Amino acid sequence: MTVRLLVQLAAVTALLSGVVAVPKPPAGDPTISPSLYDDFVRVTKYAAASYASQCAMPPNNSTVVRYFNNVSTDTQATLFRDDTRRELVIAFRGTSDLQDFLSDFAQTLVPFKAIGIDDCPDCKVHNGTLTAWNSVSNDVLWAMQAQLLYFPEYKPIVTGHSLGGAIASVASASLVHFFTSLKTYTFGQFRTGDPTYAAYIDQILPYPKLYRVTHLNDGIPQTIHRSSGYAHHSREHWELEPFGPSNTFKCSPGDDQASNFRPGVAVHNF
Ligand SMILES: *[C@@H]1O[C@H](CO)[C@@H](O)[C@H](O)[C@H]1NC(C)=O
Ligand SMILES: *[C@@H]1O[C@H](CO)[C@@H](O)[C@H](O)[C@H]1NC(C)=O
Ligand SMILES: *[C@@H]1O[C@H](CO)[C@@H](O)[C@H](O)[C@H]1NC(C)=O
Ligand SMILES: *[C@@H]1O[C@H](CO)[C@@H](O)[C@H](O)[C@H]1NC(C)=O
Repeated sequence: MTVRLLVQLAAVTALLSGVVAVPKPPAGDPTISPSLYDDFVRVTKYAAASYASQCAMPPNNSTVVRYFNNVSTDTQATLFRDDTRRELVIAFRGTSDLQDFLSDFAQTLVPFKAIGIDDCPDCKVHNGTLTAWNSVSNDVLWAMQAQLLYFPEYKPIVTGHSLGGAIASVASASLVHFFTSLKTYTFGQFRTGDPTYAAYIDQILPYPKLYRVTHLNDGIPQTIHRSSGYAHHSREHWELEPFGPSNTFKCSPGDDQASNFRPGVAVHNF
């Protein structure tokens, strides 16, 4: 299986990127193992499947437990269960109207008030993303708790692409307070909160609990930038062409050093 899906996901948002520079491999960052790469590919299928309206086609060996849809905030998510691998996967959908989420209203940094979050009073996050998460959070938490009551040994996983990746970030911050073994994989996530939020995520979901996967010179992770008061959290994994574990780099902790700021790469100069 190739990472065609990652390419398709990147294509969803390619219009926004408008970049021409071809990224070069970073110097010094280690590449990842084939098994971690397989994890990325497998979880990507859930992020991609969550784009389907109503009836997501479940990736192999998984079933759809429940579909969530808050019409007033236009937020969708799908809960999958893989009985072979014993995983419970909540996948947040991106949006076809990403521009709405890049509007000033949505981009305002607001206090991170969400279910489970009582230990970071100074954290601020992207308003549109937080509004989306809060509009489904009770239902998602309840459904996951109910599943894990029946399947206590299953591993909870949170994922999403683009806006869905940003929602997965704030959702995992909430959910890790309930499910300590949680793992998170975000794909093409834009900067989701301020530096305090980034530090908080790095503390509550330290490597290897959260993977922030980026792809070539996808513009979305670079869209909301640091001069607006935002910061990326760790831990970026940057995938270049030709796709494979030997071309996917585990970046240094912190903001996206690979795709934005590595000398000689110069994808976007914000
Ligand atoms: C399931 O696996 C088969 C064979 O490996 C593949 O052809 C099919 O596309 C897969 N289906 C999904 C939904 O991933
Ligand atoms: C699905 O389960 C079967 C049987 O356990 C296994 O051989 C196969 O590799 C699984 N497919 C995927 C895509 O995980
Ligand atoms: C946050 O978003 C909501 C809904 O879009 C909007 O009504 C509200 O004014 C925004 N808050 C700020 C502080 O911009
Ligand atoms: C949808 O979201 C809105 C705004 O957060 C909330 O007031 C409403 O209760 C939610 N609807 C459902 C069915 O949860």
